[in-house]
Amino acid sequence: MAFRKMWLKINGANRIFICDPAKDSLADVLRRLGLTSVKVGCGTGVCGSCSVILDGQLIRSCTRKIAKLPEYSEVITLEGIGTPNNLHPLQVAFMKLGAVQCGFCTPGFIVSSYALLLENADPTRKEVRAWFQKHKNVCRCTGYKQIVDAVMEAAKVVRGEAAMDAIGPSFSTEDGYYGKPVVRPTALAKVCGLADYGDDQELKMPADTLHVAVVQPRTAHHARILEIDISEAEKMPGVKKVILAADLKAAGGTNIMAEGQMHERTTVMAPSREVLNEKKIYRYGDVVALVAADTKDRARAAAAQVKVKIEQLPEYLNFLEAVMPDAERIHEDTPNIFCMQPLLKGAGLEEPSKVAGIIDSSPYSVEGSFYSTRQPHLTIEGDSVQAYFDEDGFLTFQCKSQGIYSSIGRIGNSIGIPKDRLRVVMNPTGASFGWSTNAGDLCLAGAAAVVMKSPVSLSMSYEEHQHFSGKRCPCHSNGRAACDENGRITAVEFDFGMDHGAYSWGGDDIVTKQPRFAFFPYYVPHAAGLSRIANTNHNFGTAYRSYGSPQAYTLSEALMDMLAEKAGIDPFEFRWRNIAREGQTNINSYPFRQYPMEEMMNIMRPHYERAVREAKKADTREKRRGVGLSWGGFNVTEGGTDKATVAIELNPDGTFTKYDTYQELGQGGDIGSLMLTLEALKPLGVTPEQIRLVQNDTRLCPDSGMSGASRTHFMSGNATILAAEKLISAMRKPDGTYRTYDEMKAEGLETKYFGTYSNTSVPGLCRLDPNTGIGDPTPAFTYCLNLAEVEVDTATGKTTVLRFTCVSDVGKVGNIDSVNGQAYGGISHAIGFALGENYDDVKKHTNIAASGVPYTETIPDELEVIYYERPDESGPFGSSGASEGFQSSGHMAVLNGIYNACGVRVYEMPASPEKVKAGIDILAAGGKITPPKKYFLGSDLYEELENIKANPVQAGPEDYFVPLGSGTAERFF
Ligand code: FES
Ligand code: FES
Repeated sequence: MAFRKMWLKINGANRIFICDPAKDSLADVLRRLGLTSVKVGCGTGVCGSCSVILDGQLIRSCTRKIAKLPEYSEVITLEGIGTPNNLHPLQVAFMKLGAVQCGFCTPGFIVSSYALLLENADPTRKEVRAWFQKHKNVCRCTGYKQIVDAVMEAAKVVRGEAAMDAIGPSFSTEDGYYGKPVVRPTALAKVCGLADYGDDQELKMPADTLHVAVVQPRTAHHARILEIDISEAEKMPGVKKVILAADLKAAGGTNIMAEGQMHERTTVMAPSREVLNEKKIYRYGDVVALVAADTKDRARAAAAQVKVKIEQLPEYLNFLEAVMPDAERIHEDTPNIFCMQPLLKGAGLEEPSKVAGIIDSSPYSVEGSFYSTRQPHLTIEGDSVQAYFDEDGFLTFQCKSQGIYSSIGRIGNSIGIPKDRLRVVMNPTGASFGWSTNAGDLCLAGAAAVVMKSPVSLSMSYEEHQHFSGKRCPCHSNGRAACDENGRITAVEFDFGMDHGAYSWGGDDIVTKQPRFAFFPYYVPHAAGLSRIANTNHNFGTAYRSYGSPQAYTLSEALMDMLAEKAGIDPFEFRWRNIAREGQTNINSYPFRQYPMEEMMNIMRPHYERAVREAKKADTREKRRGVGLSWGGFNVTEGGTDKATVAIELNPDGTFTKYDTYQELGQGGDIGSLMLTLEALKPLGVTPEQIRLVQNDTRLCPDSGMSGASRTHFMSGNATILAAEKLISAMRKPDGTYRTYDEMKAEGLETKYFGTYSNTSVPGLCRLDPNTGIGDPTPAFTYCLNLAEVEVDTATGKTTVLRFTCVSDVGKVGNIDSVNGQAYGGISHAIGFALGENYDDVKKHTNIAASGVPYTETIPDELEVIYYERPDESGPFGSSGASEGFQSSGHMAVLNGIYNACGVRVYEMPASPEKVKAGIDILAAGGKITPPKKYFLGSDLYEELENIKANPVQAGPEDYFVPLGSGTAERFF
């Protein structure tokens, strides 16, 4: 190994450094020099997070070898563009226009924008988008619109046409802050490249930290482990130990992650997921060993030398394969289908097969079989965890986690440290969208720390992370729907087969979602349905925004369109006739908690009519134009047992500290908490500068639950109100003025107050009956009505979404930039889902680009979200939840738009150009597209429903079923 001394002119100053010319990239060198605004996401040149300017050219520094650079090359990083005390207009605009969410992509985008403005200070929006497309800048959070807004605003200042302080909306705070575009507290560090994410923490850890690499054999999806040969790896330089399951057990761990399977119909008898696989590999991404070494490179080099001998076992890579009669069990204690949730309504409750009779005898009926894909989350940041024993002996994790308390529950006894000696702290986090609910990465890092009795850092490559982290469950489904001569739905039936992959945790939760969201929010008088979940040997299913509902809408929103066509009714009108009106029940036989559907359709109507007119006008043989609709929505909170605790403290200087676990993943955990606290403390006239947030550290913050299920703003907000009321009441003097800190102390009054809010205070909540699906588990919903305007190129089959409009009800909007960000981001994931995102082919879908992440030009710039701000009665200050509704069904607006444009119905996602083109060619030749045959999902639907009816299970008490993310650790076994 030969090192080299080099000079570069970085941000205007000549800098000397030592590098390894054989290995180092420019990004490696810059980061070692402390310029950690240069983020490495993909590491393979496809995400743009490492963008810098090299000799006047914008480049991606992760793939630029240092050895190829001439000495004294000039480099500009974000640190050279602006600092907190001397911000560039781009940085101000990104902060003020909501262009920053998780912030991991932000330095790359600002550097890229800076380079653009050097070349062209007066770009059009189209040129800005084309620039980002060309330079591969990817943002997975924002949907790009707010980023382009920011560049356009900043450009005005750069050109001298506007003053810096004119950037962003101006607003009055006379009536308070709630609903106003207050800038998120973490934005400044993010736009300056000063937010230290996981890999930045690793780089800055004390010198005797050990580095850990995973041994992920990646040879089979299902295999018996015959031998793990570590002899060569152990001899490699710098290696301290190769850690196997036996080492973890010897250190006191069970090596089994805790699990909560609570549904009465689950057949899972014991937790199944090992920290380090010992005897079997259940999926491609399983980890069988860890290497601890003195450097990251050495750990990784040694990991590559571990040899794993296997005996191949039968592999079942989707639901259909795993439920074939001759399929072997994947886990010994359970059949592959491990849980089912039936749904019966109306005549279906009397006799399930009566529903089939109603459908058969209705004037119009349609049927179809559908498939939705294994959607990967594709965060730009991968996975990086630090684990160390703190001064008080707590095994401390610094990581990405959507539920820091539930992560402790999930770790359980697996690594041999009692749960009350574990501490989880969130690092600044480059988004998650659901994957960090699992804690498998924490278990790995914790295992290494326990076995080595040393601080460790584990940073996976993007490909390792891609194979290790769970994905959205793919789903095969069969369904039918029927209506009368007036286009009113008479009955529906559905059968969902969800692929939960190798491990079961969460499967008995997701299986309750399709029987709630299929045909939401329509009035369906009679229904018979089933949702089944099975283990396969593919990656495990996990939380992902709109958890479990996109699978439902894939069936129901296709059938709605098909039925409208069969009945000869316009799809908008058909939906109008079938939305539930006041008093009509949802599919679970309960009244909807809110009925905003008519108002929302009235808002959408002119947009739809314009879109149809424009599509007709612009339609050509070469470029077919179409319009697609979909209704969607999602639940708010995790149900009747959901609970959140926060605390607010009066500080000696008269300011306030708020403590909570509103996990910030880019969605706005910081600003959400701030807005709620400002509003709750409004009687005291508090300003944002007077509130300090202490968040996401289990030793300092009470358990506010998980950030998921669109619950946090709702639950944490209600808890904030309770805490604030207590504090304000203690501070209030008899004359109506308020005590100071000193006065409180002098009178012996507490200065810190906790608020705990529980859904048990919401009347009438009840979970789904495991025998019928009747129930009303959550206090509120979000509602989204989507309109996609698409163009299909008949020569290539490529679909372009030209415009996307969403009318949404999320209650009162607490912070417009954050909610817009969730909306645009959710819609962008939905468009990606429709057109190509996938993680089915483990050899191909190894990075964000290969897995179909949408670059700028895939997402329309004309992205409009219209809020119908109906104050929610049970939510804080009229807010409901946000986020998940926006990704629930947008994909179906796109797919329905494709059908409307060119007559090709995509039954099996994604709508790849090849698939659409094949359909176009069939139709052009006068043929008919053959839909998929009805899938075999393990048994006949009605036979299974009869079987369930004949063998009911005893429904447990209300808190028997505890959903995926509930915070308290004791709920895991
Ligand atoms: Fe360099 Fe992704 S392009 S980290
Ligand atoms: Fe762009 Fe999160 S803000 S990836």
